[in-house]
Amino acid sequence: MAQPECLECVRCRQEYPLDAFDRQCARCADDGVASNLTPRYGAGDSPSRDDLPARPCSLWRYADHLPLAAHEAVTLGEGMTPIIAIDGFGHGPIWVKDESRNPTWSFKDRLATVAVSWARKIGAPAIATSSTGNAGAAAASYAARAGLPCVVLTYKGAAGAIVSQMRSYGAMVLTVPTMEDRWKVLSRAVRDYGWFPTSPFFGPAIGSNPIGIEGYKTLAYEIAEQFDWDPPDWCVLPVCYGDALYGIWKGFDEMKRWGWIENCPRLVAAETSGSLAAAAAQDIDMPPIVPRNSKSIANSIDVTRATYQARHALKHSNGVAVALDDTALIDARDRLAAGSGLSAETSSAAAFAAVDVLSRSGMIKPDEKVVAILTATGLKDFGMDGIPQLGAPEVAPDLDSVLRALGEIYKYNV
Ligand SMILES: Cc1ncc(COP(=O)(O)O)c(C=O)c1O
Ligand SMILES: [Zn+2]
Repeated sequence: MAQPECLECVRCRQEYPLDAFDRQCARCADDGVASNLTPRYGAGDSPSRDDLPARPCSLWRYADHLPLAAHEAVTLGEGMTPIIAIDGFGHGPIWVKDESRNPTWSFKDRLATVAVSWARKIGAPAIATSSTGNAGAAAASYAARAGLPCVVLTYKGAAGAIVSQMRSYGAMVLTVPTMEDRWKVLSRAVRDYGWFPTSPFFGPAIGSNPIGIEGYKTLAYEIAEQFDWDPPDWCVLPVCYGDALYGIWKGFDEMKRWGWIENCPRLVAAETSGSLAAAAAQDIDMPPIVPRNSKSIANSIDVTRATYQARHALKHSNGVAVALDDTALIDARDRLAAGSGLSAETSSAAAFAAVDVLSRSGMIKPDEKVVAILTATGLKDFGMDGIPQLGAPEVAPDLDSVLRALGEIYKYNV
């Protein structure tokens, strides 16, 4: 493991103790910027990558660069997800890092394995989260694995496959009237009972638990290792609070400092709000609220304001934000599934829609290497508003009727 010395502010590098994982930077708050903290490690020697091939085939193969040792891990074999070449997004082949292969079928397992391991190590009595999406499902699963209770607070309207998934792991899911109520209750529980928060629980949001975010560095390590230490030019992912965006940036930045890679990829934030794009256009640190008239279909990334940590990762990777509407998301999701056989949650499809936009505009050049991160499986969408349930039309049990139906319904004529 890498021994963290302290937490430091992502923006101003002010130091905080390791148990300040439930706070924002007070100094930046005085400047009007809500900034997350991140673990800082001792300078030490540059680590070697030579012994990686002998390490376990999970993200804990990189335990030397995580704040816990492999034997302390609450693990379900997460990470080391495949990279698959596909066509069809305006660029020739692109590479998909398929995170739907993780134990709870999303990339949030990377955060959950590290966060819950830390919670168990420090003796936290319970895991608590305000996410009823993939982060909640991952927290519920890893809490079950650790033998810890998990409380999930949601607000009216949450339903569908992910809620059932959380309950199946034994998580205690409760609904309060509003989003603000969730955070109000969780803040009290963290303060009074020491519940370990894995998600944001106060506003303006700074991002999730900084210890857990370390897990996302492994996405960068894996991509670099899978590309034989010659990473892609671009790395594109859907962004909500920017936990993964920041973690990936930190991972690439570390590898560059260690001499493992020469160049870091440019990062692309595929967002629904346009908050990061607005922060870049105005050259300001704190992404503004960009209100919308209606909810996005991309439930998992549907916020009106991005975080400072996301802005930081984009700025320092010479990155770009792309705002996407429902039409682009649905189109990318359906093309990915029917064209490549990869089922993505509609939020995940944002990455592919963004590749389309940037390739068409010429920002991504034809000879550049692009990785898009498929963050969660399409099965997660079932039961959500706006997601059609595709049934199987009935047909008489003879081949003539079947062939007729194939022609009429599916336009398939033999
Ligand atoms: C499928 C999916 N993709 C992307 C994200 C964005 O996560 P982050 O907070 O790391 O930006 C989420 C967040 O819930 C998600 O569920
Ligand atoms: Zn600060």
